[in-house]
Amino acid sequence: MSTTFQLDTATSRAHPTPTPMKRLTIPAIRQRKVDGVTTDPIVMLTAYTARQAQLLDAHCDLLLCGDSLGQVIYGLPSSVQVTLDMMVAHGAAVVRGSYHAAVAVDLPFGTYESSKEQAIASATRLLKETGCDAVKLEGGEVMAETVAFLNQRGIPVMGHVGLTPQAVNVLGGYGARGRSDAEAAKIVADAMALDQAGVFAMVIEGVIEPVAIQITQAVSCPTIGIGASAQCDGQVLVTEDMLGMFERVPRFVKRYEAIAETISGAAQRYAEEVRARTFPTIDQTYQPK
Ligand code: KIV
Repeated sequence: MSTTFQLDTATSRAHPTPTPMKRLTIPAIRQRKVDGVTTDPIVMLTAYTARQAQLLDAHCDLLLCGDSLGQVIYGLPSSVQVTLDMMVAHGAAVVRGSYHAAVAVDLPFGTYESSKEQAIASATRLLKETGCDAVKLEGGEVMAETVAFLNQRGIPVMGHVGLTPQAVNVLGGYGARGRSDAEAAKIVADAMALDQAGVFAMVIEGVIEPVAIQITQAVSCPTIGIGASAQCDGQVLVTEDMLGMFERVPRFVKRYEAIAETISGAAQRYAEEVRARTFPTIDQTYQPK
């Protein structure tokens, strides 16, 4: 993936302004799945900061500024405490740090569930103040009318079914969903309702694999799995999980790095050098000319 800017030759100006190469569009992502088949799986990672987005951008189709930032960045006990202001600040940083991947931002708990009007006000704020391409919301059948309302008014929506972390107080934890026939049927019905309402893609989180496969085969839009199945139309992970930032490694996470050890080791070496007065050296100090 080239990281150079392309000249805008669409104008007759003598000195065309350099413009970034075009971002992936939401319709382009939706159209990855044709007649139930996705030949080019969708790559999504979470991003919360501009620099993180810069590093991930070239490798991803979608960057999600997820409300998991509540736990990952703010040390909150769950995503329930996350506010729209937080999502606006971090979503804008992610958009500033990227130019290739489409950016979706989570609507946080309590900012969209009570009415279509509340949802459109919150989603509009996210699009206007961050420049993101789409919003994501949790919930199935109960949110279908809202999804259609937003979509028909120009706001692309990504759905999120299965384990929905904003509902942790009702679910009672983060265990995998769909183990009983009734629960599996409800998750499939949720996914079908969102698909019919017009989501451009949906996250399937923390469900037993047969349910993820059944949904992926049943819905027309791409599914993006996390703790779901390799047969989903794409995958997402929380970037810090994938990098090994935390000690606890949930079953669905694959660690591609051990960043916590790298950070802690670097801090330890720095601390030792400060205490031994071996940092800074002549190389890191300003001397008279
Ligand atoms: O908030 C988040 O990061 C998410 C992903 C885990 C899908 O919803």
